[in-house]
Amino acid sequence: MRHINFNSVERVLSFKKFEFNKELFLPEICFAGRSNVGKSSLVNSLLNRKDLARVSKQPGQTKTILFYRIDNFFSLVDVPGYGYAALSKKKIAEMSMLLNSYFSSTKNLKRVYILIDSRQGIKEIDINFLDFLNQNKLQYNYILTKSDKIRQDDKKKIIYKLTKEKGIPLFDIIFTSSKTKEGIKELKRNILNELLKNEKCTK
Ligand code: GTP
Ligand code: MG
Repeated sequence: MRHINFNSVERVLSFKKFEFNKELFLPEICFAGRSNVGKSSLVNSLLNRKDLARVSKQPGQTKTILFYRIDNFFSLVDVPGYGYAALSKKKIAEMSMLLNSYFSSTKNLKRVYILIDSRQGIKEIDINFLDFLNQNKLQYNYILTKSDKIRQDDKKKIIYKLTKEKGIPLFDIIFTSSKTKEGIKELKRNILNELLKNEKCTK
């Protein structure tokens, strides 16, 4: 069975404007979600780094699309968040265009993980983004972030809501915390499975 060395970050590419180029030959796994949900923190947790990806209390920290090339096997992609009310209209338009160009023109994206803050749940803006992914025929799973901020009871309620009310399969949901590292191992396994699954599909 293939093993991924998540400590092995070989290259970081940053795009202010996304254009497909031949350096982007590896399969991609992307973390997307509202600003401040913890995408960049999760990149650091997964790669066992403290501050490789820049993290901030202020929403709107990540302003480019960043490709972290891991173990010559795949690229982990960190993107700007959506729903960044604090940014100027011009900046919001720029970020939306950047996200749009990436998701509509990437050739190697295997799976998007939608990050949702466990305390806040799915918002309308997430639903709009999911619609956009559906239109582009992109597959996604859910990551409930900042699980250290909620109680065990709340987790059960969230799972009930997502599975029973929204019809999301249980195996598409992972709780993570970049503080306690809950869910990190599970997420690594899940990513490997997605990559292998897709490898088979394309062969
Ligand atoms: P943008 O780049 O602005 O879209 O934000 P982001 O989604 O990349 O979020 P980021 O990783 O920068 O984290 C935002 C804030 O949430 C920071 O203050 C982090 O320390 C905090 N944070 C991230 N993950 C966790 C977590 O698992 N638990 C807790 N308690 N705080 C977290
Ligand atoms: Mg970020």
